[in-house]
Amino acid sequence: LREIAAEKDLEGKKVLVTAGPTQESIDPVRYITNHSSGKMGYALAKAAMLRGADVTLVSGPCSITPPPFVKVVPVVTAKDMFDAVTFVSAEQDIIIKAAAVADYRPKQVFDEKVKKQDKEMSIELKKTDDILKYLGEHRTPQQFLCGFSMETQNMIGNSRAKLGKKHLDMVAANNLKVAGAGFQGDTNVLTLITQDEDVSLQLMSKEDAANVILDKILSIMKEREQ
Ligand code: CTP
Ligand code: CA
Repeated sequence: LREIAAEKDLEGKKVLVTAGPTQESIDPVRYITNHSSGKMGYALAKAAMLRGADVTLVSGPCSITPPPFVKVVPVVTAKDMFDAVTFVSAEQDIIIKAAAVADYRPKQVFDEKVKKQDKEMSIELKKTDDILKYLGEHRTPQQFLCGFSMETQNMIGNSRAKLGKKHLDMVAANNLKVAGAGFQGDTNVLTLITQDEDVSLQLMSKEDAANVILDKILSIMKEREQ
């Protein structure tokens, strides 16, 4: 009932959310990925939809059912995500990049399964394109760009550096070492970092965290309009 009664304060807004990990193939059998569950991104997409937004969810491989009334674009690799995001980014009012995009991919993808040998082996990696940095460099002034940041040390300093370097309006930072925060669980402990302040949130469900993030984004957008 609470969900049906949600205030439609995002009516008329186009919101793009990315979620989940990416997978970077080594050969037809193996890939490189990370522990992202997609829960935070899916919670954001659902919350934005309930608040009346026109939501697109670009999602890496996840095992969660996507929320209804959301355009879902499934992707696998960082390159796929780059293409899917940049295809629709220009028309978005708000972009929230909750996905844990691979920073590196194998330089060479083998067509056949790589067989083991009696010696050590190494895989050469190439950097992926930073999607969020690209969006920051090609943004319109009205657009709101929110990144996520996953750190295990110097969370505020490192996350604030991302805010500047990628030309973002906000970074939702989490410290993987804090209990109840991070990739797999149903809760998060976030700090919302903007140009003006750092707001530390209590431990809360990812659903509640999603709504607090959307509240903060809307309040900054309203301030700007004045
Ligand atoms: N991101 C992205 N494209 C990449 C890498 C990251 O769009 N190739 C985005 C993520 O979706 C996230 C933000 O950048 O919103 C920060 O990701 P994070 O991994 O915390 O930071 P990085 O800038 O990748 O730096 P590092 O991993 O070294 O901390
Ligand atoms: Ca990274």
